[in-house]
Amino acid sequence: MGTESREKLTLPRVFIISRETAHRKKLKNLLGRHFESKTFEDTHIAGEAILKNPPDVTIVDIERVWQNEINWLSMNPSGINFKSLPLILVGARGEEFEDMKALFGDSSHYITWPLEAEPLREIVSTLINEAVEASWEELPQSLSRPLKMTVEEYQSIATAIENGEPIDYKSADKSCAPLIEAVRGGTHHDILKTVQAHHNYTYVHSMRVATLLTLFGYGIGIKGDDLKILSTGGLLHDTGKLVTPLKILDKPGKLDDDEWPIMKNHVTRSGELLGDIDNITKGAIIIAEQHHEKIDGSGYPRGLKGSQLNDLARMSAIVDIFGALTDARSYKPAFPAEKAFAILESMDAAIDQNMLSMFREIFSSTQTEEEKELVKTA
Ligand SMILES: [Fe+2]
Ligand SMILES: [Fe+2]
Repeated sequence: MGTESREKLTLPRVFIISRETAHRKKLKNLLGRHFESKTFEDTHIAGEAILKNPPDVTIVDIERVWQNEINWLSMNPSGINFKSLPLILVGARGEEFEDMKALFGDSSHYITWPLEAEPLREIVSTLINEAVEASWEELPQSLSRPLKMTVEEYQSIATAIENGEPIDYKSADKSCAPLIEAVRGGTHHDILKTVQAHHNYTYVHSMRVATLLTLFGYGIGIKGDDLKILSTGGLLHDTGKLVTPLKILDKPGKLDDDEWPIMKNHVTRSGELLGDIDNITKGAIIIAEQHHEKIDGSGYPRGLKGSQLNDLARMSAIVDIFGALTDARSYKPAFPAEKAFAILESMDAAIDQNMLSMFREIFSSTQTEEEKELVKTA
């Protein structure tokens, strides 16, 4: 996967079609910097652009395009298959969507003004993720199984939390088995890369941390069920973020004095949510509760230090930072592994430097040639 595709994956492309300047502006503003949005006043030009390079999602303001243009779009003289296009139709009242269903298919999403940023972004992300998850079907099983099983697990955890139901640890355990196999088989680097196309960042980050922790553990000789602690602990470590407001989680700039405690609180929330699970391993709880603690006592939430932090806490602190640095977000590019290791080294006594060099060796020895090349040229 080259730099070009990675950029595209990082910032999904959204086309907005509306006759009304104010509506185009409004929709673009609502999507914000999380997406690369392009607006079109002219439906025919939009159609040509879609054909040339289809966006990840198209939003049609049906109140503000002419009926004959809708017919043009739906009659499909251009060869665009709208029924298979991730599409959001925006209207004023709702009843106008009935006709549209026949034209655009049932899978389109219909929403009405007034719109708010978070729900709109969520629909766009859902459409993107449906396409991303469908594309995983075409990958070799060694890659598609760990991805599919963990994303399903993550969704079921999110649903359980939403409904106030207990999280099923056994199923998390089962879902991580193909990930452990992938690490054993050496396909973990493909997982780390491929998963980034997904647009649920907490899932992406958690899956990457799970992969890296499993790799770390496998590299230092941890076997059997103990490897499961690392993979499930990694997958569940930020569960508390599922109840953290998106506007704080996705904030591109620095968090202010009111926002920072809410962000930090995700650790306490993770501990509470996981603490309610019957058969969860102690190790997974340690990973969730202590991945932001630092050996010099500068971490949070408890400011634990030195021998209060066992190997699991130390490993997860390193991997959590490394995972975040090497991941692309809508507001920051992915740092190459070498740069991330340099940053971790500069953290001195805050993290376990011996463990860091072990992790560095394990990670680097399994890096693909293509990745090594990228590091050299980055
Ligand atoms: Fe965290
Ligand atoms: Fe994390």
